[in-house]
This record gives sequence, C-alpha cells and structure tokens, in this order.
Amino acid sequence: MDLYEYQAKELFAAHGVPVLPGAVVGEAEQARQAAEEIGGQVVVKAQVKTGGRGKAGGVKLAGDPAEAVEKARAILGLDIKGHVTRRVLVTEASEISEEYYFSFLLDRANRTFLAMASAEGGVEIEQLAVERPEALAMVPVSPLTGVDLDTARDIVAKANFPEAVRERAAEVVVKLWDTFVAEDATLVEVNPLVRDPQDAVIALDGKVTIDDNAAFRQPAHADLVDEQAEDPLEAKAKAKDLNYVKLDGQVGIIGNGAGLVMSTLDVVAYAGERHGGVRPANFLDIGGGASAEVMAAGLDVILGDPDVNSVFVNVFGGITACDAVANGIVEALKILGDEASKPLVVRLDGNNVEEGRRILAEAGHPLVTLVDTMDSAADKAAELAAAGA
Ligand SMILES: Nc1ncnc2c1ncn2[C@@H]1O[C@H](COP(=O)(O)OP(=O)(O)O)[C@@H](O)[C@H]1O
Ligand SMILES: [Mg+2]
Repeated sequence: MDLYEYQAKELFAAHGVPVLPGAVVGEAEQARQAAEEIGGQVVVKAQVKTGGRGKAGGVKLAGDPAEAVEKARAILGLDIKGHVTRRVLVTEASEISEEYYFSFLLDRANRTFLAMASAEGGVEIEQLAVERPEALAMVPVSPLTGVDLDTARDIVAKANFPEAVRERAAEVVVKLWDTFVAEDATLVEVNPLVRDPQDAVIALDGKVTIDDNAAFRQPAHADLVDEQAEDPLEAKAKAKDLNYVKLDGQVGIIGNGAGLVMSTLDVVAYAGERHGGVRPANFLDIGGGASAEVMAAGLDVILGDPDVNSVFVNVFGGITACDAVANGIVEALKILGDEASKPLVVRLDGNNVEEGRRILAEAGHPLVTLVDTMDSAADKAAELAAAGA
C-alpha cells in the first residue's frame, strides 16, 4: 500500500524524522484556519499517490491565509496523472538552501535492502539515474546489521552531502531506517530532503510503501487505508478474502494457483490479438479449495466488472479434484442466479477430469462452454469477449 505524503510524514514524525507542521483539508475554506495556525508563508500541496505534483501545479506557495484558500481552491479537483485531488496538505513553507535525495528500498533483484542518496535532489530520481548516475550513491544495506550512525555517515559521504550537514543528515538517515523497519515498509523516500539556512535537515516530501504482507502485525496500518480511493472491485474482493487484481481488459479470469493464473493471463492476451485485441480483465487466484462458495464469490466480483464480456475459468484439479470444482461451478451459478449473465468458458484438467466434465455437461448451463485445452479455451473466451463488446 502506498501512502499519501501527509501519512508518510506522520510516520516520519513518530520516528523522529524532522518534518514541518501541517494540516490536511478537503475544502478550500478550511485552508484558512490551517494557514492561520501555522502562521507566515505556507505551501499548499495536492495529496495524491503519484509524484511530480510540483510540475503539475499541485504544489503552491501562499503568503497569507486568504491566499492559502485561493491556492487550495485551484488545487482541489486537479487531475494529476489520472489522480483527482480530493485533499490538500497546508504546511509551513521552508526556506531551502539545498535539496537532497534519500531513499531506502527493497532491492528484490539483489535480495537485499538498498540506500539511495544524492546531494542533487529535487529533480526526479529516474532522470538523475540516467543523466548523472555518478551523482547517485547506491549502498546495499544488510537486514542483519541494519543502519547505525556509522553506516549512515558512510552513506551520506558516498552521496557527497556537504560536510556541514553530514552529521545531521546521518542522524536523519538512521531515523528513516527506523521508520523503514518499524513500519514494515518496502520503500521510504524523501525527495527533497532539504537543508535550510540554519543547516537543519528536514524531510519536505515523503513517500512510503507499506508491505501489506505485514498487516497481521501492524494493526495501526488499517487506519491508513483510504477506502474512497480504493478500486471498488478490489475492495469487494478483499472483503471476501480473494486474491484479485483488476486489469484493464475484457476477459474475466478465474484460476487456481498463482502460476496457472499468470500463464492464463498470457494465453488470453495472446489469443486476444486474433480477436480485436481483447485482453484479460483481472487476475484472480481462488487457491486450492475451489469450493462453490469461493467460486461464487470470485464469479460475483468478476461479473460485477462492467468491462467484462466473457469469463475464462481455468482450473487444474489437484487435491481438490475436478468433480468437486465442477460441482462448485454448478452451485456457484445457482447461487448467482440471474446475476450470472455473461458467457463462461471452462477448462478443467487434472485429477478426476472425466467426472468433472461429465458433471458440467450434464448440468448443461446455457452460459457455460466446456473446452478441453487451455489454448482453445483462451481463444473461445477471447472470441466471446470480442463478440460481446
Ligand atoms: N514545505 C515546503 N516549503 C517550501 N518548498 C516546498 C515545500 N514542499 C515542497 N516544496 C517545493 O516543491 C517541490 C515539489 O514538492 P514535492 O513535495 O517534492 O512534490 P512532488 O515530488 O510530487 O513534486 C519541492 O522540490 C520543493 O522545492
Ligand atoms: Mg518530491
């Protein structure tokens, strides 16, 4: 889960990372009081889960409370890379002497954590990495030893932070590491980390990605979920404990086992090229059980997606044999009744496949087409999706 800047900074503050005071508001008029309480110049910042807000006009300086209201009005509703701004952060304006870049992240390819730092912050890091890679220090961090003050000093020295702020920056880096570990984050990024005229080092922006797999030991993180911003289908799937990811195609996919579902996405995308470019509409792994209830829950979510024109059910019977899966499909269609309104292509294979196919054939549901192989089934599902468009 990605957090908003204001949420990231709340976590920073809780772990001792210096941030400036601020308040989040959803209506322009509320920016007045927020600005009055902060006093002096403020910055009004769009709270959207994407970067580059500054360039998009989502970060504006305001000299007084009336101007803060005006800027908030201009920013609220602003579409930044497809994210509509529903709230703004009104925060103290900082005097900036220098802007640096700092992040900790999970480096999957190298199976370690990584610190990235540069004395040339403010610009987009992808751009810096391409244009001036030598200005970006990348230091692997072992999860076993973590980051103490000495390690932090080493990182900021490698990144060429000026001598005058190295010690302070190193202290901030240790606290960012504390945040990273304590919050089970996979990314903690500060761009810019600034030096002010008094040589204080402050996190002016913040991006944090929380590892959802750690939710069981991070009960407080449930409060960080923005239900309004969640995809309604993904929220529904989550409530039913389904492993579902919405994609942008027209062929709904249900399979058992993440690997099988991933390859199903591939064969459907491939088959779709022969049928006007239709694509998979989602990832959905119903796991080993494939009971009628789970099948019904899965079908319910997929059929609720207005983009879906056909559904491909691709199941390999293992411990749960094909006859049980076939009964699951038949029962699920009974549970859904009229709500099941789009054609289903079913491919079953594996344990007890003959019996499974017999059950489906016998049930003879008008929406169900039984196809023997994965490729032919993908082709049929793509054809039906294209016809239904
Ligand atoms: N509180 C602040 N005071 C002064 N300048 C700020 C403040 N917050 C942001 N800025 C300026 O705006 C730029 C963009 O803001 P930032 O929070 O990094 O958003 P984004 O990365 O989405 O563009 C920063 O690089 C900084 O120069
Ligand atoms: Mg930034």
